[in-house]
Amino acid sequence: MCGIVGYIGKTHAYPILIKGLKRLEYRGYDSAGVAMINDNGNLNVYKAKGKVADLEAYCEDKDTSGCVGIAHTRWATHGEPNSANAHPHYSASGRLALIHNGIIENYLTVKEKLVGRGIAFKSVTDSEVLIQLIEYIMQSNNLELLEAVQVALHQVIGAYAIAILDREHPDTIICARQSSPLVVGLGSDGAYYIASDASPIAEYTDKVVYLNDGDIAVLQPGHDLRVVNMDNETQHPNVKQIDVTLGQLEKGGYPYFMLKEIFEQPSCLRDCMRGRISVEGYHITLSAVIDYRDKLINARRIIIVACGTSWHAGLIGKQLFESLCRTPVEVEYASEFRYRDPVLYPDDVVVAISQSGETADTLAAIELARKAGAFVFGICNAIGASIPRLTQTGVYIHVGPEIGVASTKAFTGQVIVLSMLALCLANERHTISDEKYKEMVAELIRIPEKMEKALKTNEQIERLAPIFTYAKNCLYLGRGYNYPVALEGALKLKEISYIHAEGYPAAEMKHGPIALIDSEMPVFVIATRDKLYEKVISNIQEVRARGGRVTALVTEGDEQIRKFADHVIELPDTIECFQPLIASIPLQLLAYHIAVCKGKDVDRPRNLAKSVTVE
Ligand code: M6R
Repeated sequence: MCGIVGYIGKTHAYPILIKGLKRLEYRGYDSAGVAMINDNGNLNVYKAKGKVADLEAYCEDKDTSGCVGIAHTRWATHGEPNSANAHPHYSASGRLALIHNGIIENYLTVKEKLVGRGIAFKSVTDSEVLIQLIEYIMQSNNLELLEAVQVALHQVIGAYAIAILDREHPDTIICARQSSPLVVGLGSDGAYYIASDASPIAEYTDKVVYLNDGDIAVLQPGHDLRVVNMDNETQHPNVKQIDVTLGQLEKGGYPYFMLKEIFEQPSCLRDCMRGRISVEGYHITLSAVIDYRDKLINARRIIIVACGTSWHAGLIGKQLFESLCRTPVEVEYASEFRYRDPVLYPDDVVVAISQSGETADTLAAIELARKAGAFVFGICNAIGASIPRLTQTGVYIHVGPEIGVASTKAFTGQVIVLSMLALCLANERHTISDEKYKEMVAELIRIPEKMEKALKTNEQIERLAPIFTYAKNCLYLGRGYNYPVALEGALKLKEISYIHAEGYPAAEMKHGPIALIDSEMPVFVIATRDKLYEKVISNIQEVRARGGRVTALVTEGDEQIRKFADHVIELPDTIECFQPLIASIPLQLLAYHIAVCKGKDVDRPRNLAKSVTVE
């Protein structure tokens, strides 16, 4: 939920830290802070409520010198967003400073003990407890920092990615990870970088180490990376090469990352399919299916676990797997699944879907499934994140870093991967004919081009958006494959414009929500030409009969719905099961333009964080 950055080397740390925080701001932006040790050995900590820009303004007249520093952007869990609760936290003596992402679950018990020993706290956070504990252990046992960290981490329960500065040792940063992501970058000049994900590091080095749970890293410029565990056993870090370009991390002329990411979808999906679909033979090859063919095609059942937008993609996956592979599928909210006592069989395949690969509930669901002996398959975007490392196999969606908090290209990337996977398995299981398989693969190849056409609705949607700015509630209706599209459209609007919106299966509307319909409530209906088209027309009539205002997404050339909808948005035709890839685009654009009209900060919606690493 929070973002952490650190640098130790030969150059001025502060600009690297601030730039890194800006790249990580999507993870939390209610307060931010930075700590540096200057050449005189002073450990300076500066913190501000608000965004990274507020911290920068606050630091303008401060001493930000020093070649070692750590920084943090916060998404509050314990304690309101203010500068006292912002990180870094000083230890009681002021010798140490710590940044933390995660939650220390037993912090109250530990805090009580420390307060009993006379330690005063400046914040109400769980994080401050950790640094006070570390210093207390250091002082009372006369230990070095690393030893004290090892003892302290044995005493805390919870999730953490931490980094610590010690003003007595300005040549060292100590960091550790347990259930919260932490990446170490290895600079060519012997410098070290740390961050919650690789995005702040990518412009300085392409060599990184993804720390594992239980790892404690000691970073000293010019020395080899030292990684140990809590029992001081040496760990052997795996250096990986990352492949992220600067262009992928910047807005490229768009006012917001979200708009850039909406427009990137055709090229991202081409990237996602590249090397996996043969254009000549109309054939899909997924290495995960080659490696685990028997396990996957003989699955008794598929259980999809995910949260938010990824869960919506899972609902589309269910329809794809059931209709193409004839395998029964359940779609579960990871947060519910983890606390139920689900029945799992060894021949179940659990598919975990996550853009970030770090969502705490999805990780816990994977853990539960693995303990029960199920085979776990991951669909993830962030390379090297926890989910791909915890699953037996999987497929990356390869849509590049998604920075906008509202997920867009990751959603369509997930749907295209689920489509490829379902087609691949259906072909192996012979549940669809060769002819149908090839016809569908050929259509998948055409999807990016059709998305380009769908993006041309942008101007029309920008013109329509102001009409909906004053709505208090909106209803999104769809059936079949378009029902998850309705859910996703409603979520997008809620997230960034703060208008209440409900996604509903169109026919269910008459079992309740129809009571809400009046001339004040915009109703968005996904009414593309498919087998339920006529039924959706009847649902539109039901809305119209109650004075509702209908905006319909229709297949191009549709004249019928135009007669009774207030507005129609025409979309290119495609096979029914791929319609979500096209129909979700105007709904993303609609949410975006409504939020912009309302003056909202589209990329940083209130109360949200991109990566939900706490439950
Ligand atoms: O990284 P994940 O896909 O696991 O994230 C799951 C949800 O937190 C995420 O999809 C969230 O709902 C987005 N903000 C939706 O736009």
